Amino acid sequence: MADQERWQVSDSTAELYELHVASWFAKWATDLVERAGIKTGSTVLDLGCGTGVVSRALGPVVGAAGAITASDLNESMLAEAERLGIESAPIQWRRADAESLPFATDEFDALLCQQALQFVPNKGAAVSEMRRVVRPGGIAAVSVWSRLEENPYVAALANGLAAHLSEPAGEVMRAPMGFGERSKLEEVFTGAGFVSVEVEPVVITRSPINAIEAIDGNLRALPIAERIGAMHPDAYNAMIDQIADELSDYITDGTLTMPSTSLVAIAMA
Ligand SMILES: C[S@@+](CC[C@H](N)C(=O)[O-])C[C@H]1O[C@@H](n2cnc3c(N)ncnc32)[C@H](O)[C@@H]1O
Repeated sequence: MADQERWQVSDSTAELYELHVASWFAKWATDLVERAGIKTGSTVLDLGCGTGVVSRALGPVVGAAGAITASDLNESMLAEAERLGIESAPIQWRRADAESLPFATDEFDALLCQQALQFVPNKGAAVSEMRRVVRPGGIAAVSVWSRLEENPYVAALANGLAAHLSEPAGEVMRAPMGFGERSKLEEVFTGAGFVSVEVEPVVITRSPINAIEAIDGNLRALPIAERIGAMHPDAYNAMIDQIADELSDYITDGTLTMPSTSLVAIAMA
């Protein structure tokens, strides 16, 4: 897989990710912590932590008696997460590939993984590793994007990139939706030996935001941010206009109010 397919970003893009994407995903993070039933004092792994939005939701829940390990493949994401930090719970940061985790068997009471499994080439290996590091009776709560048809915002970004930058650029946006099928999640979690698996769609509506700022921010936080930044301003502006036109049903007086759909698997080890 190319770096962009694994959502690998540079230091500056990690900062933009925090500003424009993690802020959007924060409601999903709170929801994931609730669905996983995390308790005070729990030991939890935040896998594919990015800039730490899930760890920040976890902190006040596990509290000082708990412990969080936040882990990601990407050094820039991890550095930004560490820079932002959390105060409410002990936390350690660890670079790791989800396919081969440097953690002991049964080390965690729970594992949370938000919007990262879709980027891992060998999903069976990653979910087997999740099963190994979560103690029997513990929970893995994992979210991925649902299908493109259920995510018109992402579809509009992909269409704009394909029309004004390149077809492969559009594919960078579409590819993360490719794992958004209930049956695929059920199969991989059951195959890895989790004893119960429930998969549900979760819709969040992003807090209303200036439409052009949202579209511009999300494009500039992509793993292909450098190529987007090098576009001619006329082509870039035409791309923004096309995306905003496609989203006109969700824009009122310049403000975007946009639902997004993920699939969440809650699996018991
Ligand atoms: C879209 S971000 C999600 C980050 C964070 N969980 C959030 O909700 O904002 C995807 C993350 O998955 C990470 N990732 C991709 N492949 C990975 C792998 N094989 N092992 C661990 N993390 C991986 C990327 O580095 C990136 O930080």
